[in-house]
Amino acid sequence: MKISGRTFIISGGASGLGRACARDICSLGGHAAILDMNAEQGGALVQELSPARALFLPCDVTSTSSISSAVTAAAAWATQTGKPLGGVIPAAGVGLPGLVLDRELQPVGLEAVDFVLGVNLRGTLDLVRQVLPYLGAGQGEGVDGERGVVVMVSSAAAFEGQMGQVAYAASKGAVAAMTLPMARDLTRFGIRVVTIAPSMFESNMTAHMSEKVRVGLKKAMEFPARPGQPEEFASLVRQAIENVMLNGVVIRLDGATRMPSKL
Ligand SMILES: NC(=O)c1ccc[n+]([C@@H]2O[C@H](COP(=O)([O-])OP(=O)(O)OC[C@H]3O[C@@H](n4cnc5c(N)ncnc54)[C@H](O)[C@@H]3O)[C@@H](O)[C@H]2O)c1
Repeated sequence: MKISGRTFIISGGASGLGRACARDICSLGGHAAILDMNAEQGGALVQELSPARALFLPCDVTSTSSISSAVTAAAAWATQTGKPLGGVIPAAGVGLPGLVLDRELQPVGLEAVDFVLGVNLRGTLDLVRQVLPYLGAGQGEGVDGERGVVVMVSSAAAFEGQMGQVAYAASKGAVAAMTLPMARDLTRFGIRVVTIAPSMFESNMTAHMSEKVRVGLKKAMEFPARPGQPEEFASLVRQAIENVMLNGVVIRLDGATRMPSKL
């Protein structure tokens, strides 16, 4: 799938990993529809990338109607610019730590569980689900007749969740597990599905970590012994879009880091 001349829908595109994807896609001649709740950062990014190439659409991925409005607007923009939809990158995500049972014998609250699963799992699936009919109806590209790419975001927590990450790990494990059946369902349409599972990357999500947690995580890192940069994530997304043989796979992007039990 060529990036140039195509429009990509990116949730969570106003910050961190999603924003790096929007920058990369625009730098390669693509268009980015940025769906996010953060209108201030989304608007600033559109100014940076140029309103001719990027569009901010307010969206809360926990609301089906909010996704519907944003996806309809993104599809209309793609028609208007003549740059058809090429894929979706559902990168909106949240973390909310909570022990499954704390010292006071309080089990984790379902409100917190629903919040994390609602954004990371339901929000991912709902956005993808609503973009797919547009991709499926598009013109096939190249010798393989490709119609689009879905690049989902899992996490190292899908494999080695740490203490307090039961809900987050459940959400990211589910995203990883959806990858193959989704790819199989979409075979007949020529739409591929790739999931990336990053370890710790610099972003707003990790900016608030305590120094103790940072130092602990660093000890678990092999090479390179540093958090990933959002541009390194975007570079793998680019490969996921462009390389037609990548399909139905979860790729770890972690410099061999394996999260330990305790920091
Ligand atoms: N940074 C890391 O270390 C890391 C590691 C593994 C996985 N991830 C995953 O990568 C994805 C991107 O995270 P990031 O690190 O860039 O974080 P970030 O906080 O920088 O960006 C997340 C974006 O999602 C948006 N968002 C949150 N809830 C939303 C909602 N309900 N609807 C629409 N937008 C919403 C936020 O406004 C923000 O712009 C997430 O799914 C996260 O779980 C991050």
